[in-house]
Amino acid sequence: MCGIIGYVGKENAKDIIISGLLALEYRGYDSSGIAYNDHNKIKIVKMEGKVANLQKKLGENNDLPHIGIGHTRWATHGKPNEINAHPHKVGITTLVHNGIIENYSELKNKLKNIYEFKSETDTEVACALIDYYQNKEKDKLQALKKAQKELNGSYAFAIIFDDEPNCIYAMRRNSPLIVAEKDNDYFIASDIAAILSHTNEYYLLDQGDIAKVSEKLTFYDKDLNLIHKKINKYQGTINDVMKNGYDHFMLKEIHDEVNVYKNIIKSYVPNLDIQDLKNNFGSFLKYHSITIVGCGSAYHTGLAAKYLFENYANIPTNVEMASEYRYKKIFPKKDELVILISQSGETADTLEALRIAKENEMDTLGIINVLSSSIARESKRVIYCLAGCEIAVATTKAYLAQALILSLMAILMGYERNIISDNEANNYLKELSKLQKDTNDIISNQEYYKKIAKDFYKDREMFFIGRNIDYALCMEASLKMKEISYIHSEAYAAGELKHGTISLIEKNMVVFGIITNSSIASKTISNLKETKARGSKMILVTTKAIAKNYENDDSFHYIITVNNLCPFFQGLTIITALQLISYYVALLKGENIDQPRNLAKSVTVE
Ligand code: AGP
Repeated sequence: MCGIIGYVGKENAKDIIISGLLALEYRGYDSSGIAYNDHNKIKIVKMEGKVANLQKKLGENNDLPHIGIGHTRWATHGKPNEINAHPHKVGITTLVHNGIIENYSELKNKLKNIYEFKSETDTEVACALIDYYQNKEKDKLQALKKAQKELNGSYAFAIIFDDEPNCIYAMRRNSPLIVAEKDNDYFIASDIAAILSHTNEYYLLDQGDIAKVSEKLTFYDKDLNLIHKKINKYQGTINDVMKNGYDHFMLKEIHDEVNVYKNIIKSYVPNLDIQDLKNNFGSFLKYHSITIVGCGSAYHTGLAAKYLFENYANIPTNVEMASEYRYKKIFPKKDELVILISQSGETADTLEALRIAKENEMDTLGIINVLSSSIARESKRVIYCLAGCEIAVATTKAYLAQALILSLMAILMGYERNIISDNEANNYLKELSKLQKDTNDIISNQEYYKKIAKDFYKDREMFFIGRNIDYALCMEASLKMKEISYIHSEAYAAGELKHGTISLIEKNMVVFGIITNSSIASKTISNLKETKARGSKMILVTTKAIAKNYENDDSFHYIITVNNLCPFFQGLTIITALQLISYYVALLKGENIDQPRNLAKSVTVE
């Protein structure tokens, strides 16, 4: 949600913190702030809007601090403005926070006779609580421990006290936080992107851990026992968080999709042989049903996987939005596998869904992109989808990496259940090379998709319709269009349209029809034509083989085709083509593609 950073060292803390906040800006970008030790006085500077505004403001002073904390915000409590921006200071306590304090109004009631509150934020209340206990306890660690007991919800804090201006305390629960050191310089950050230009080695704070950062680094667990932390190494490089000449991270990450497929093949199916999958994924034979849980695009990968798991492995598969799953009645089954899908591995609803599945003693498998993220660490098993750092808020390569992992799982499960023979399985796996080539061809043909986007980027609404797995692809294509272009796009089950929603179809409204399944192609075509009869502009997105049947039908505004692939991989190239169209629609509209309004890359609050 928000991004926090802290620094203690020999460099100018202002520069270190600003470059860290710029790297964290994809987490939230509506206001930002910094606090640093200016001659043993804690100085706070906050600004509404992008980090660049704060950078400009800071440029006006010549302070050379060596310790400081910073924050870039995605507003939850209180609108984005300077007062609600972080850091917040109460008494002698100054802090930045990522997360939500769910019981902040009770705590505010408890503290309102002691402290005057200036902002609308939950964070300021947490700051007051910590200040209240540091006053009472006189020992900072005891104060933090006491505060932890009363704070409900999610938090990652970086804290400076007036009477210890050369020291930062950091603690977390549910929100991610890492700590790193390099040549006696110390860093605290929400994720590795903020410090990659300094080091790729870091410590992970576990639930309730506290770190004390001054001239040395000390870790305590939630009971204040001194603890030793193992170093984690990030596999990528600083290039992962640089645009490297691309106009946007989204375009860079679409161009990275073939490399991602290569990573997955090299790690999980090096010989394009089903035995590789057995060795690397293990067995799923003991499961008689599966529940897939995720949010947004992660949920959409589950929707598509359902059709593959049921059709090719004969496993009843249920797909749940994590925000619904965590509050619905669960019917736990011993032989059920719960698959949690998440790019960030920190999405609050999915993390909580995982904990509920574990409480109900169900096996859990995380399909995660960010290494050692909370969902990865807390799942019984994890399959990393190896997409590398994804900065653009709108997921592209990570969605496809998750989808490919699930497709490979479907092949393996079908094989384990003797529904797919090893010959068939290996023939499917051989198509992975074709998947890479086709994806490359689509990406190198991006001008074609730009031309199509030019046709309707001024439109205000559109539809994506499809049946079965194509409906799942429509969900993702529509979300991509919506979240970066702000065009009100809806995905709809093609057969359902005529039961009401078709009343929205107006003259020249664009309706995309996605068809990868030839056995029901004519059904979706009829539904498309029903919209055409009401004036729509039909855009058919399908395979070359299916398109053959309509090449003489000039009623289509566009027929966008991709090469034929086996059903396990066919949807992936369709999505790459539609990602490019969404990208160019948003580009032509001049929208902020990497940081769309109102969104954040990792939703760590409910
Ligand atoms: C997708 O482009 C969005 N960024 C969003 O829907 C995202 O998929 C969702 O928030 C889930 O995030 P996760 O994969 O990190 O859990």
